Amino acid sequence: MKPDLNQTVREIAIEHPSTVRVFESFGIDYCCGGTRSLQDACERAGVPVERALALLAAVKEDSPADTANWGGATAQELIRHIVGRHHSYVRSETPRLMAMFEKVVSRHGQAHPELASIRDLFAALTEELFLHMHKEESVLFPYFERMELAAAQGAAPPPAVFGSVEMPISRMLADHEDAGELLAKIRALSTEYQAPDSACPTYRALYHGLEEFERDLHHHVHLENNILFPRALHMEQGDVELAHEHH
Ligand SMILES: [Fe+2]
Ligand SMILES: [Fe+2]
Repeated sequence: MKPDLNQTVREIAIEHPSTVRVFESFGIDYCCGGTRSLQDACERAGVPVERALALLAAVKEDSPADTANWGGATAQELIRHIVGRHHSYVRSETPRLMAMFEKVVSRHGQAHPELASIRDLFAALTEELFLHMHKEESVLFPYFERMELAAAQGAAPPPAVFGSVEMPISRMLADHEDAGELLAKIRALSTEYQAPDSACPTYRALYHGLEEFERDLHHHVHLENNILFPRALHMEQGDVELAHEHH
């Protein structure tokens, strides 16, 4: 985006919801105190104007598309990417969005009762996701890595507590479906993440954050369902050719 020092902070936050992260990081109030110009707000917050302009200019409307070709990566590389990028995103976004929910529900919950329902759905979704990611990180992913290591050494898959990987994988697939259903309900209740015209910047930023959360989770699930899990199944069958068919 192209920041304008004379625009108010509030206008910038409404037009470019991703900028609220920059404002948050500087402690600049973009919501109720957002009627100051960007220049004025920076001065009051003791933030060098050039620094704010540089960070705002770097803000993209959408999180950068992940175009890496994961078909050619090892399971270990893929797992590092999933955990480092998508699991940590869920862990950092959840408290941020819940804090926004508190604010928005207390201010607008009466006029918009759907906000409390959306918050409850989001709380249920993230509670499930935290458990789910823990299962992946503590049991399933380490096993995939051991399997890959064994295959590289020409050895048979190591013994697993769960028998075949098909079992835990089918449970993970069911969790992904449940998460997808909760996200679809949130999307419907929020009328496709469209905040009402009268919505304050926090309300808009919350909806924007939820939409980003959905997009990220869709991508995350795609990497697991469509690349990582099929590869693990092939590895288990000793089908090294197929396990690396994209090389
Ligand atoms: Fe995951
Ligand atoms: Fe998963």
